[in-house]
Amino acid sequence: MSSTIAVKFSKVSKTYGTTQVLRDISLDLPRGSTTCVIGPSGSGKSTLLRCTNLLARPDSGSIEIEGMDITAAGTDVNLMRTKVGMVFQHFHLFSHLDVLQNVTLALRKVRGMSADEADARAMAQLRAVGLGGLERRRPSQISGGQQQRVAIARALAMDPAIMLFDEATSALDPELVKGILNVMRDLAISGMTMLVVTHEMRFAREVAGQVVFMDQGRIVETGLPGALFDQPQTPRLRQFLDQVL
Ligand SMILES: Nc1ncnc2c1ncn2[C@@H]1O[C@H](COP(=O)(O)OP(=O)(O)O)[C@@H](O)[C@H]1O
Ligand SMILES: [Mg+2]
Repeated sequence: MSSTIAVKFSKVSKTYGTTQVLRDISLDLPRGSTTCVIGPSGSGKSTLLRCTNLLARPDSGSIEIEGMDITAAGTDVNLMRTKVGMVFQHFHLFSHLDVLQNVTLALRKVRGMSADEADARAMAQLRAVGLGGLERRRPSQISGGQQQRVAIARALAMDPAIMLFDEATSALDPELVKGILNVMRDLAISGMTMLVVTHEMRFAREVAGQVVFMDQGRIVETGLPGALFDQPQTPRLRQFLDQVL
């Protein structure tokens, strides 16, 4: 595998019951670049992300992350997940833990850090996403935008090689969307490798190195954002863009 490729999907397929959700997905994610995935509801976008950190297992094909085939038998799933941070639409914070504890939990349990070490790392990461001073709040005591920042800080604290975002702004009030997109943009500029499912076409156009259009479990088109948005090659993408732009 070329050293410029952080993640390599090769003919990844996945079926739930009788529904084939992913069909022969082959895709390279260049290191240090953002790939945005767009497509209609049910096209398999979330399943693709979930396969990338083995929340779902492909039925066939392989996924290599930094040269390691994570789909091979005997993969250390916990080790692999420390390399792949994921941020969800609905934040998935632990409601009974405060902000700081949400970020330190995996640092202590998975990384084996001491409480002091984990606290210091978490505080720095929380400050970096604009949450200094909110460490002792519960998730229910902060806004949706702040909750999503906690989720991002929690993922980044693990020092991942790749970040996955699954519609990270879709559950937010409109006035909070921009702040989260700015955090994601800064992360992209800092050189993080990112795979981002989004309906924010402006973000995709401005930040993505490549955009992938999925429909019915297939990658229909891949390209530079300008080309993909301005010169769609397939009727299906043209129709989709007409609906969302
Ligand atoms: N755990 C699951 N069990 C059964 N069907 C699923 C499961 N997850 C997703 N699906 C189905 O797979 C298809 C693709 O889902 P998903 O990956 O969530 O698409 P998207 O994120 O593009 O909306 C949908 O038809 C969905 O109902
Ligand atoms: Mg989805």
